[in-house]
Amino acid sequence: MVASAPTLTSEAAFDVEAIRKDFPILSRQVHGVPLVYLDSANTSQKPRQVLDALDDFYSRHNANVARAVHTLGSEATTMFEAARDKVAAFINAPRREEVIFTKNISESLNLLAYSLSNATTFPGAEKFRIGPGDNIVVTEMEHHSNLVPWQLLAQRTGAEFRYIPIDEDGRLVTSAIAERIDARTKVVSFVHQSNALGTVNPVARIVARAKEVGALTILDAAQSAPHRPVDVQALGVDFLGFTGHKLYGPTGVGVLWGRYELLAELPPFMGGGEMIETVDMTGTTYAAPPHRFEAGTPMIAEAVGLGAAIDYVSAIGMENIQAREDELTAYALQAFATVPGLKVIGPNSPQERGATISFVVKGIHPHDVSQLLDEQGIAVRAGHHCARPVCVRYGIPATTRASFGIYTTTAEIDALVAGLARVQEMFG
Ligand code: ALA
Repeated sequence: MVASAPTLTSEAAFDVEAIRKDFPILSRQVHGVPLVYLDSANTSQKPRQVLDALDDFYSRHNANVARAVHTLGSEATTMFEAARDKVAAFINAPRREEVIFTKNISESLNLLAYSLSNATTFPGAEKFRIGPGDNIVVTEMEHHSNLVPWQLLAQRTGAEFRYIPIDEDGRLVTSAIAERIDARTKVVSFVHQSNALGTVNPVARIVARAKEVGALTILDAAQSAPHRPVDVQALGVDFLGFTGHKLYGPTGVGVLWGRYELLAELPPFMGGGEMIETVDMTGTTYAAPPHRFEAGTPMIAEAVGLGAAIDYVSAIGMENIQAREDELTAYALQAFATVPGLKVIGPNSPQERGATISFVVKGIHPHDVSQLLDEQGIAVRAGHHCARPVCVRYGIPATTRASFGIYTTTAEIDALVAGLARVQEMFG
């Protein structure tokens, strides 16, 4: 697929042709035709700059961090800690020590959920204790990573698990925010941008209610951090997580950010090397954040690769990326409206939604849609997108989902629409 003619106003500030040249995989063919990659919400492709950073790390600097005093050890430590600085700047964290490297967003959220239940017995962590009579609130549009850890925490602690429902249009029922979050709410964990619906949630409104009742707020930014500026101070949450591989970085690295004063009192989750202060056979004291939460050898090369990805998107500018993708979303919604029998599952207007669009096509199972598109070189995802309750809510088994990234063109959206017409022809 060749890049589109410059039909969007963002094209002037956004050289999509040049961006596409940085992504080697975009020039490959699938089933003998050029690849149209519309599955970036699942995982993004990687620019040469990230691939080079990984190669450079392993070819020239590879060593373990924070323990070897030799030259390579010190270079690796410097590069790993520089990646932490880049993440801190990217999300406008007040302190670099607030950035914890994890494996992915699932680990970021599980780390928090387990640290919170460890507070039950951990000396000095009384303020984090959760028990019977308390409740934990999520939303009905969470993906499983921001749902199951909290169900498990509720089971471990005897707290009640609650959710804010979604309406027909794929948005939160805002009147339920004040009702579900009440005086006994300890944790409110919610998604910034839904992976299944594309909805961007009213963070300020939810945070304001949670603060009123003294609940901790946790924002899952896995699907927003690649697409819009994410500023932890402006968002006002207590914790925020995202994953590297959706942000043009490698797999195997994610981030948990938390307010320092909370991290400093939060019990650890995993025990091991580097998370300790001193250890003897009668007990252990723990390192300060972030190392308290980074047991064992971390994902060093992957963090360096994530740093390169952050450099890459920052050079384009997250505001420019958001503006470009907003236009692509509006373009796609208009184009989808021309496909007979296509129904968007999620907000059908470009306002307060991201560039991830789920849909169903009348009479054709989403898996068949996806497979027949793949035969035309078009990669979309079909299924429940690891957010099964969303499909249950709308009484559908699955959706087909097209999701865009910085390399997506209007020509690719046109190819998808033409591909859907061919799928419909095949089904008569
Ligand atoms: N990777 C998952 C997605 O495709 C969660 O949205």
